[in-house]
Amino acid sequence: MKAPTQSTRQSARKHHHSGTAISDVVILAAGRGKRMRSATPKPMQLLAGRPLLEHVLGVAVGSFPEAALHVVTSPTIEGICKERDYGFKINWVLQDEQLGTGHAVAQTLKHLNPGGIAMVLYADVPMVRSVTLETLAQIASQKALVLLTAEVDNPFGYGRIVRGSDHHVLNIVEEADADEQVRKICEVNTGIMAAPVDVLQAQLPHLSADNKQKEQYLTDLVALARKDGVPTHVHSTDTPFEILGVNSCAQLARVERVLQSYQAEQLMERGVRLGDPNRFDLRGSLRTGRDVFIDVGVLLEGDNNLGNGVQIGAYCILRDVHIEDGTVIKPHSVIENVRIGPDCQVGPYARLRPGTKLAKGVQIGNFVEIKQADIGKNSRVNHLSYVGDSVIAEDVNIGAGVITCNYDGKNKHTTRIGKGAFVGSNASLIAPVSIGERATVAAGSAINRDVPDRALGVARGLQKIRPNWRNEK
Ligand code: UD1
Ligand code: CA
Repeated sequence: MKAPTQSTRQSARKHHHSGTAISDVVILAAGRGKRMRSATPKPMQLLAGRPLLEHVLGVAVGSFPEAALHVVTSPTIEGICKERDYGFKINWVLQDEQLGTGHAVAQTLKHLNPGGIAMVLYADVPMVRSVTLETLAQIASQKALVLLTAEVDNPFGYGRIVRGSDHHVLNIVEEADADEQVRKICEVNTGIMAAPVDVLQAQLPHLSADNKQKEQYLTDLVALARKDGVPTHVHSTDTPFEILGVNSCAQLARVERVLQSYQAEQLMERGVRLGDPNRFDLRGSLRTGRDVFIDVGVLLEGDNNLGNGVQIGAYCILRDVHIEDGTVIKPHSVIENVRIGPDCQVGPYARLRPGTKLAKGVQIGNFVEIKQADIGKNSRVNHLSYVGDSVIAEDVNIGAGVITCNYDGKNKHTTRIGKGAFVGSNASLIAPVSIGERATVAAGSAINRDVPDRALGVARGLQKIRPNWRNEK
């Protein structure tokens, strides 16, 4: 499942009949990303919970479902990149040495469809939109080289678009190679381009590394192609977030915020009320009913589904959670891989662990941990309990501090509690054990034998009274 926002970004796919002639998408991902100063290779750095590379693959496939996908990696990072299942067929191409972006694309030449048009994307430019790529593709189908550019306030670090007196693009000059005059240019190269495969095949072998960084720049293709009479067109994006590159932790954080506020906007458009769109993080997908309210500081991971009228309190963490209509999750609750029925109340400070299922009207209170348990309709576990590997029927009351002792040091065992049972505070239920329907467990009991229906189970020292214990008048 892709994030809904992702599918919105790719919405062009649904009404895709332009038959754009992109035959190949080449994604450059071999760079070391050393400015990240991380052991994790840059394409695997997470943006909204998913690797950068996966974002770029998603938009590529969304825009050009028919195109062949080539990802250029290096011997050191190929293994890590390939570990993940992206859900589509990828041709992994090795670039043994990182000799530059032009050299990277050259490694794919023998794999590209002859006569086709290739789109070059960068694993570290993850926010580009489908509509933009489709526009580039359309222009490139006229046998031209097409660059995606942008006008920015601060062009530092980007390649600058240098135009001649007739306004035609002459070449691209990298920051490192730019003089005073060129540095002032605010029209920058995003790195993204579409080019006829013939042009790539004819020109890439002629790239030189005669520049400050001693790299074969893909950007030099512009000047080479011009000499050969291939026109270069420029498409300038008016949504500048598309071109944001990730080269440092600060830039990754910035892109994360941009994506998060974009996602928040989309949710609010669908009628979701957010306590504060700037304090909301979605790392995955979210489906919502009507009148959902999500308070500040909530983090949603994986696939989540919130029914009508669901309220999520401040600072909750939800991962792969399904919550039905009218349920309220109070602040600071942590819930993972759980199904919650309608009209439940959970928290504050509840922890619901994987495999938990709550039926309708269940109440889970503060400092309660539930793991792998089925809890029946209108049952209540309101204070300071641990319930694990349990099956609890309807209308059960679990008192404060009750613990299911589900683990004997080797194996996990099940606790069963019948309909209408009452378990007194601070009881230990030593599994495997069953508490019958409408049975009562006395507070403070350590129960290791079954309690029959309607019976009272007591297992604790009898209270003794020693009068005048303090020898005082
Ligand atoms: C590149 C562009 C620059 C543009 C900028 C936009 C060139 C020469 N420069 O610069 O004009 O403004 O992107 O973000 O193209 N990579 C490889 N193999 C290599 C080198 C790089 O696969 O040998 C990959 C990297 O992993 C990265 C991408 O290519 O995904 C871009 O490389 P990077 O070194 O970050 O280029 P920039 O200096 O950002
Ligand atoms: Ca870059």
